Amino acid sequence: MQGKSVLLIIGGGIAAFKALLLARLLGQAGVKVTSILTRGGSEFITPLSVAGLTKQKCYTDLFDLTDEAEMGHIELSRAADLVVCAPATADLLGKVANGLADDLASTVLLATDKKVLFAPAMNVRMWTHPSVQRNVRQLKEDGALFVGPTEGEMACGEFGPGRLSDPENIVRAINDALSRDTTLPVAAASSLAPSGAMAGKHVLVTAGPTKEPLDPVRYIANRSSGKQGYAIAEACAGMGARVTLVSGPTHLPSPVGVDTIRVETARQMMTACEEALPADAAIMCAAVSDYRPDIETEHKIKKERGGLTAIGLAENPDILRTVAQLELGRPKLVVGFAAETDDVVSHAEVKRRRKGCDWIVANDVSPGTEAMGGDNNSVILLSDDGEEVWDHMPKAAVARRLAERVAEVIG
Ligand code: C5P
Repeated sequence: MQGKSVLLIIGGGIAAFKALLLARLLGQAGVKVTSILTRGGSEFITPLSVAGLTKQKCYTDLFDLTDEAEMGHIELSRAADLVVCAPATADLLGKVANGLADDLASTVLLATDKKVLFAPAMNVRMWTHPSVQRNVRQLKEDGALFVGPTEGEMACGEFGPGRLSDPENIVRAINDALSRDTTLPVAAASSLAPSGAMAGKHVLVTAGPTKEPLDPVRYIANRSSGKQGYAIAEACAGMGARVTLVSGPTHLPSPVGVDTIRVETARQMMTACEEALPADAAIMCAAVSDYRPDIETEHKIKKERGGLTAIGLAENPDILRTVAQLELGRPKLVVGFAAETDDVVSHAEVKRRRKGCDWIVANDVSPGTEAMGGDNNSVILLSDDGEEVWDHMPKAAVARRLAERVAEVIG
């Protein structure tokens, strides 16, 4: 992120104060932050406080001719590497989704040639209102990135989704967006629509291991490389889907055309998946740690201070099960993976039923198969229609075949 620049658009709402913390965190990470404060935003915080924190001018609707001569709104919209809108209000989302530009923020959001990351924050009923959800879907289809909102108690006393994602989480999403090409392609209107068997569909994929910290230097993890999940994300994107890949720590680069959200722990993976929904299909490939240490200390555990003789464990959320059993907004198709070392089919079928997913892709990861971390895989697809044994093949081929099958259901 060091040396990158972000245009931060701060909308109106009680969460506007958190944008100040976000600006500070970005500054600490070496990011240059230029800002725009909307008229609503300036009811909550002042341009002076934003400018003081960012050490850059904070533009407002009082943008006058002098400013226009110094830096026109078109230039302002293009000078940054990424545009971040936090908090993004229902009003701002609605304007951009519908092509309206009646103030500086919305004008810049339409004029930009860079990706826009929205961090929405609003009352829970506003967030769940069909018209706001319609606007969000439209913006996602148009290529906008989203982080949050999260669930919790709101300033207005209600409970539910609508809280601004934590500034640290927004920084993570910014880091991820900046690690990819943030320039919006210039395309003729007709070529803007993706083509392929999954065009217009959203696919959520999880991949990789999770790391469950014990102290700042130690963690519990597993040997998953993330290769199969990344290949699936890439195959779905290749078929025209909008893909969100929620990945545990891996050494793999983000696949082209895929929104990759990097997380560490199972709980972060759960939150990122919830934030990524709705989706037409969810393909849960990650090797999520079922348990985490029930302690996490801020300081390294020292042998001299008694050390550690046992690790107590707490259960992690089961992401696949949660998504498969959603009453509202369940993806049309939920696919799980089952890495087994013995009785592969029967164990996997029990898992399919227990978790409530539609399909399970079962594979043998017993020593000698090299499925874990290797480039090839032998899988058996289990569904209501029974079992289907696939030949031993590269993970990329498994991914393409699975994506084709998924497209038949959601396409
Ligand atoms: O129960 P088991 O871990 O073997 O289940 C494997 C499947 O469940 C995979 O699809 C994996 O991504 C998913 N899973 C999950 N959350 C967990 C554990 C597993 O999503 N906590």
